[in-house]
This record gives sequence, C-alpha cells and structure tokens, in this order.
Amino acid sequence: MSKTNQPAWLDNAVFYEIYPQSFCDSNGDGIGDFNGIIGKLDYIKELGCNAIWMNPCFESPFGDAGYDVSDYYQAAPRYGTNEDLKRLFREVHKRGMHILLDLVPGHTSVEHKWFRESMKAEKNEFTDRYVWTDSIWESPEGMGCIRGISDRDGSCAVNFFSHQPALNYGFYKPDPDKKWQQPMDSDGAQATLGELKNIMRFWLGMGCDGFRVDMAGSLVKHDEDGKGTIKLWQNVREFLDNEFPEAAMVSEWGEPDKSLLGGFHMDFLLHFGPSHYNDLFRCDEPFFSKRGNGDVSEFVKKYIENYEKSDKKGLICIPSGNHDMDRLARGCYENDLKTAFAFLLSMPGAPFIYYGDEIGMRYVENLASVEGGYGRTGSRSPMQWDNSTNAGFSSAPSDKLYIKQDDRPDRPTVKSQSSDENSLYSEIKRLIAVRQSHPALQSRGEIKFLYAEKNTYPLAYLRSAENERILVIINPSDRATSFDCEYSLKEKIYSVGSGLSVDNGKITVPPCFAGYFEV
Ligand code: NOJ
Repeated sequence: MSKTNQPAWLDNAVFYEIYPQSFCDSNGDGIGDFNGIIGKLDYIKELGCNAIWMNPCFESPFGDAGYDVSDYYQAAPRYGTNEDLKRLFREVHKRGMHILLDLVPGHTSVEHKWFRESMKAEKNEFTDRYVWTDSIWESPEGMGCIRGISDRDGSCAVNFFSHQPALNYGFYKPDPDKKWQQPMDSDGAQATLGELKNIMRFWLGMGCDGFRVDMAGSLVKHDEDGKGTIKLWQNVREFLDNEFPEAAMVSEWGEPDKSLLGGFHMDFLLHFGPSHYNDLFRCDEPFFSKRGNGDVSEFVKKYIENYEKSDKKGLICIPSGNHDMDRLARGCYENDLKTAFAFLLSMPGAPFIYYGDEIGMRYVENLASVEGGYGRTGSRSPMQWDNSTNAGFSSAPSDKLYIKQDDRPDRPTVKSQSSDENSLYSEIKRLIAVRQSHPALQSRGEIKFLYAEKNTYPLAYLRSAENERILVIINPSDRATSFDCEYSLKEKIYSVGSGLSVDNGKITVPPCFAGYFEV
C-alpha cells in the first residue's frame, strides 16, 4: 500500500485491456480463451504493460458480450474453467503483473437464476433482487423495463439492453406513494449488496487483483447527484479495507469527484457525457490529426475541472479506446497515432491500451452485429499476431471465427510491427519505458497545463513529482507552431519527431511532433 491508501502498484501501472473473445484462441474453436491469454502474457509484458483489465469472462448467454452475466461464480466454459482462470492469475503474478476482472454489479442476464426466481408470482428469496414495480401497468419512471413475460404482476427495470434487468440496490429517495421503490436499507437492497460482496470475495480470494466496475455510478435509483451510490461504494470500500486492502478498484463512472469519494482508486474518462474526450481522437476534426483543425481546449477545461474536484488526485484514466468505441485508428493515422500515444502515456492516472491499438489495428467496417456489439463489433475483431492463418489468432477455418478479421493485405500485425523500429508498436514500447522510468510522468505526478488554446496547436503541460519536472509538448498538426514558455528546457528525455527550437522564451514546435523535456 502506498501512503495514499491505494495499492502501490497502481502508481506506475500501464494497463492493457484484453477482450477475451478476441485475443488468442488456444483450442481452435474460433474464439479466444484463458490459455490463449496465458500464452501471450510475455508479449504484454514485453510491450511494457504491467497490468491487465480483462472484459467479463463469466457464464453468460453473451447477448451483450458477457455484460449479461448468468452466473457470477463460474467462468464461461468457452474461455476455460475456474481453475484455468486461477492459473491465469498465477501466471500474471509470476511476471510481476496484476489483473483486474470486469465486475458487472448493476444488472444480470434474464437467464440468471436470480431473475428466473424473481419472475415468479409467488414470493421467494429473489423477489426483491431486482427493481420491480408492483403492477404490470406501471413502468419504472425514467427507466426501460421488462414486462409481460411471466406471471409476476409487475414491470422490471432494465439497465442497458432490455435483457439486462436492474439489480435492486434501493432508491435514494423512494417515493412514499410507490411502495415498490425500496429504500437502500431495505432487506432486498441489502441482500443484493451482500451478494455483490460475496462475488468480490470469491474472485479476490481466487487471486484477482481487483475490478474494473461496469456502470459503477448507476446502482442506486433516482439518485441524481450520486449520493446514494457513493454511500453504497463507501460501504464496499469498508468491506475491502477489512478483507482485501490490496484490491484495486477502477470505475466506469466518468465523474471522478464522485467515484473517488466512493472509494474507487481511479475513474475512467469516457466517450460519453461531458468529458470532451471525443474531441481528442473521435470526431470530424480530432485534435490528434495532422489536418490540424482540432480543438483541445474544451477537453482541457473539463479535465482541469475534474482534476480540481478530485482534489488534484488526477486519478483519471484515459484509455486509447475500448470495446465500446471506434478503434483509435479509425480517425487517426500513422503519426497521429504516435503523438496520440505520447499524450496518453504522459497523462496522470493509469493509461489503458485497448488490445491491438498498439499496432494500430483498424476498425473493421460493415460487420454484422455479434454478441450485442452492433456498431461496436468493428472494434472487437480478433487480434492480428502474424502472417499465419487468421493472423495467428486461431487455427479454426476462417469462416468459423466468431467475428471476422480485418482481411486487408496490409493489415498490421505484431510480427511486422515489432521488427520495425519505426512502427507504432516500437514507439509505444519506448514511450512506456520512458514513463516507467520517470515518476513525474506516472499516475500521481501533478499536471499543470501551460498551453491549450482554442483551435490552436500545440498542447503543452508540465508534469511534476518530487524534484522532477517534465514539460510535454505535443503538436499533431502538419504545421510548425509556436508558443511562449516561461520554462527553459534542459535535457530532452524523449521525442517523437525532431527539430524543436527555442528562441528567447518562444518555443517553435515542428509538425507531427511530441517531446518530453526536463525543465
Ligand atoms: C458498459 C460496457 O463497457 C458495455 O460494453 C456494456 O454493453 C454496458 N456497460 C452494459 O453493461
């Protein structure tokens, strides 16, 4: 534990997100599995990542890629057994790395036995496990619902897709006229919370290092300011502090002032909500584009707001992408990607690299939806390892792959990129190594933005920790640009591109450049 009550390993963690379906298939059935992942751990370590977030791997009908759990205590057979998963944990630890599982606390699959019991008209142990109204004719306000599929006279709130019924953690301020809105301390809500702790206890006991928590801010209903949900997570925090003080918790919440208060160690910056994250890489004119028509200022404004609100803890994780967004390489190309990673790998919080982004894997266009992916399916195609069959992902016949691969002849692979010093992969590997050897660039180093003007380049910020101060200057555009800087540059620590010049406090930044300088 560091002095800040957070597991020390998070301070210099660089995460790699594994989407287990698509990473590596060891048994030739066309879909990835735990043993496939184990076989690739050395690859992840070699890249420099020291932590893994693995998407849900529990029993599920996979109507939402496993975010529709039907048994929280069982690994999905298509990935392997609980024993295989335990071995994965051990193999990760053997390499000095850590692994977070994906915890889906807000909803289950309609196939979960709790829901099957809960649907029954007769009262039973699971009657209050989900959020039900007490008449089929009444919908839970502000939420979608499932109704008319069993004899139970009620409508059940859903959290995401209509096959994902919402678990009952209670209402922050239940409406006294609606008896079905149970308070947070009701028996039903408390039983759900107790079960959530059991699930966490089970997997932490098996050896995982913590959780990325799905839709963490959504648990308590009618809770606009998140006060109830914060309270709930504080309760979980207490349980963890007592039983698993080393467990790491990262939230999919997008409001660090709330999630950190709830006891999470880190929160994600997300592609939805007011974050302006999309201004960076995923809009018509992203900032990270050599066209140079982007605007980073709104993103920075929002980032600073969150940074201040979270007490300058800065534990906001900025992912390169994830299984819900377009591939980074859909809107950014070649040098854009290099400068993008120079940014991602020099920001506070832990960076998250979505599998394949390190080789610039592309979004596969025009795919039919798989496992509830819809437009997300193109970002979930199987990993491209080498030039063997199915790019080394699987020995199954190509038409048996559960998602079609990028079949363009120039598709990037790990093999081609790792043998090329100028590739994106090699650049990222160097950038991670630089981050790992400079505390100022790591999770807890402070950040001060020096230049982030509207519709203008470059972006410049100062990172600092103890005696180290590093100035980061990034100009993704294909035009040279300059800014006035009060700091004098000492040594160059690293750069993508070259040719920066300083004259009398004015720094001129060459096109497509990113550099880290000691000041
Ligand atoms: C967020 C997950 O990242 C996404 O993939 C999933 O569909 C929803 N939550 C629902 O669990």
